[in-house]
Amino acid sequence: MKTVRDVTPPLTETQIAKRLSSENLDELLQLWSKEQGVAKRRDLELMEAALPFPTDANLRVLDMCCGPGDVGRRIWGRYRNSRIDCVDRDVFLISICNGINRREGVSAENFVRDLWNTDWHNGLRHDYDVVATANALHWFDAPRLVELFNDIFRLLRPGGVFLFVEPACAEKIFAAGFAEWKSRQPAREHTKFINSVMPKLASSPTLNALLESYNAAVSAPANELVHLYEIRDALATRYGGEDEALRNLQFAEKDWKQLGYLANKAPLKEGRHGGWHLKLRHASADELDEARRIARHLIEAFANQL
Ligand SMILES: C[S@@+](CC[C@H](N)C(=O)[O-])C[C@H]1O[C@@H](n2cnc3c(N)ncnc32)[C@H](O)[C@@H]1O
Repeated sequence: MKTVRDVTPPLTETQIAKRLSSENLDELLQLWSKEQGVAKRRDLELMEAALPFPTDANLRVLDMCCGPGDVGRRIWGRYRNSRIDCVDRDVFLISICNGINRREGVSAENFVRDLWNTDWHNGLRHDYDVVATANALHWFDAPRLVELFNDIFRLLRPGGVFLFVEPACAEKIFAAGFAEWKSRQPAREHTKFINSVMPKLASSPTLNALLESYNAAVSAPANELVHLYEIRDALATRYGGEDEALRNLQFAEKDWKQLGYLANKAPLKEGRHGGWHLKLRHASADELDEARRIARHLIEAFANQL
């Protein structure tokens, strides 16, 4: 016996846009951000930083498989004269992208297209300065990727840039180097920590600044301890002195001092060391872990006061 179900026709882009206008777009973005994980922030920073154009350039950008549009908006954040076209097959995600881009004043046009279709690029420009995509190429197999790369090449102007980031696992010969790099990346507690302070971010510019320092620390390992120390420093300033900060935050003096030691006194290349040491070494993984842990606790203690 066959069961006949009622099939609700999918909503059109306009219908979704209408419903989204009454939704909290920020909440949807936050959910997306959680789903994408903490490494995404660094990936976006890297993409933005890698673009070899002056910031006042009028870039034409295609955000390919845009989802809610993180990549395009990130580029637009640095290149305010740019125009971002977005393409994705998912009507819901691209509608979120459209809603947020309109709200933020991003100049953009959206295309709902399936990149498995050979005509996916019809109607797109052929003079993009940048085609960018994050976390999407793994949706395609190798033969299709070859075709897509050829399409992208034709969509770019001469001298244009194709930029992508992808989750990857290393080939055997790169595995050791990759494992070493990975061991220096923020651990899982980083994600928990970000999620725990995220809801309070909007209410406090200081919390934002602390988190900026933390992010700078984990994404710029060469100066990691310098940035982590900024957090202690900012809190001392905020409370009008170290003792006041310790009292207000109910923070362990031992940890406070240890962060100061690692950042200022230990002979570590990642720290401030102020020219005191002739011979510097790299901080060990344990030292960096400890400094990060203390910095996270400081930020959490501050967030708990809000
Ligand atoms: C993990 S999401 C990444 C989205 C976005 N690039 C970002 O970084 O937030 C992958 C995106 O690829 C899109 N996608 C997957 N297969 C696609 C296809 N065949 N055509 C167009 N878009 C596709 C999905 O709809 C989704 O928005």
